[in-house]
Amino acid sequence: MPTARIAVDADRPIGAIDRRMYGVLVEHLGRCVYTGIFEPDHPAADEHGLRRDVMELVRELGVTVARYPGGNFVSNYRWEDGVGPLARRPRRLELAWHSTEPNTFGTDEFMTWCRLAGVEPMMALNLGTRGEEDAVNLLDYVNGRADTDYANLRRANGHDEPYDVRMWCLGNEMDGPWQVGHKSAEDYARLALSTARAMHMVDRGLELVACGSSAWEMPTFGDWERTVLELGYDEIDYISMHRYIDPAAQDRADLLAAGVDLDRFIDGVIATADAVGAKRRSDKKIKISVDEWNVWRISEWNAIEHGFDPGDWPLAPEKIEDVYTAADALAVGGLLISLLRHADRVKAACLAQLVNVIAPIMTEKGGRAWRQTIFHPFATASRIARGTAYDAVVAGPLTATGRYGEVEALDAVVTWDEQTATGSLLALNRSLTESLDVTAALGGLGASRVASARILAPEDLDAFNTADEPDAVAPVAHPVELADGALTTTLPPASWLAVELA
Ligand code: AHR
Repeated sequence: MPTARIAVDADRPIGAIDRRMYGVLVEHLGRCVYTGIFEPDHPAADEHGLRRDVMELVRELGVTVARYPGGNFVSNYRWEDGVGPLARRPRRLELAWHSTEPNTFGTDEFMTWCRLAGVEPMMALNLGTRGEEDAVNLLDYVNGRADTDYANLRRANGHDEPYDVRMWCLGNEMDGPWQVGHKSAEDYARLALSTARAMHMVDRGLELVACGSSAWEMPTFGDWERTVLELGYDEIDYISMHRYIDPAAQDRADLLAAGVDLDRFIDGVIATADAVGAKRRSDKKIKISVDEWNVWRISEWNAIEHGFDPGDWPLAPEKIEDVYTAADALAVGGLLISLLRHADRVKAACLAQLVNVIAPIMTEKGGRAWRQTIFHPFATASRIARGTAYDAVVAGPLTATGRYGEVEALDAVVTWDEQTATGSLLALNRSLTESLDVTAALGGLGASRVASARILAPEDLDAFNTADEPDAVAPVAHPVELADGALTTTLPPASWLAVELA
């Protein structure tokens, strides 16, 4: 059996893993909000109309931060429509997803959900149809402490205490021609900068995220980031990037190597940001917010005709409800390894999305809620991969892919949390055919015990979970030994292992 060795240099950590690494996107899209997290008529709904069964799964998923209200939705959203007495909230045409927006869920309901879920809110601003003035008004509504109309409006709506939202996204995917209010890099950079300046006049401590590229394939990638950062370097803390891996447009070997794709994209964004920083002789390092990432059969979605029926504006329609396979879960496991490997620069990341829409959690309207396959790697990593990330240097066999050529069959990352004296090894065997005997030298970290070891090693890579069979794909216990600082195990082909160290 081929062997792979992992070396970890405990004296050379990659960086601290920000707690925002385990974020999600909650968008007014399809059934993510309506009949997803919010369904007042559901038997499990609480007094706020929030589904308790979904809330429990969100807690189990280990979500740390939620980006809201979009996504593309935000670029034609009037936040004022979604606050105040329900009877006065208007129904609107929602252009991004060709739906009716009832506005029965809005900013205050989202903040309540965040509080109950133990999740930090991350707000996205509409820089598609709106600008500086509305951004400042929303900021005042959400965080305001003074005696102003917007802060008072929040109080009058029953929310005395400011929400103190720290992280704000300056628009969404403004590089995309599909975006309402899509802009050139120059126009966006100017608007983002003046919005950032206005917001910083309210609160210098806000953390602001400028839109980067909505995909690596965008023809403007690179130039977009450079233009935005050359203008906004001093006001902007993060540049965003969005990455969706499409299993319908690639074969299994490529899919399992999705982490290579994300590595390259992240490295490209870092190189571009640092080139701007170097030219300015700046000490500041721009952070990266991968604020949308996932596996998504996007080519199948794009092949459908959307929104051309002017008479049909459904409310909370079933949209983009991808059913995830076991292979998709392995790809998500690989993407998590890539994100953690970049923990020094990726300081926020949001799985897109949370419920029903390309989501780890599925619901029936009025019925059950269950975990999709991709729930498992995310929940496991969020639970055990905290603290500091360490590079796992692999020496082992290569495996062939069409997209990336020969890549390491084994991909891995190691984490260690000094405060709790716990850590993790996350490892993916990308080979579809070969098992791997793995040895990891973890001696320097101080790990002396394996607290748990669970593996996703599906016999059927096409298997998926349903409401009737919610655990068809789930991790199982796996034998791992740790002696004299050396961890040994065998990884079956196409498997993702999560070892919890103590
Ligand atoms: O997550 C689905 C959509 O993907 C988001 O609304 C948009 O930002 C991206 O294109």
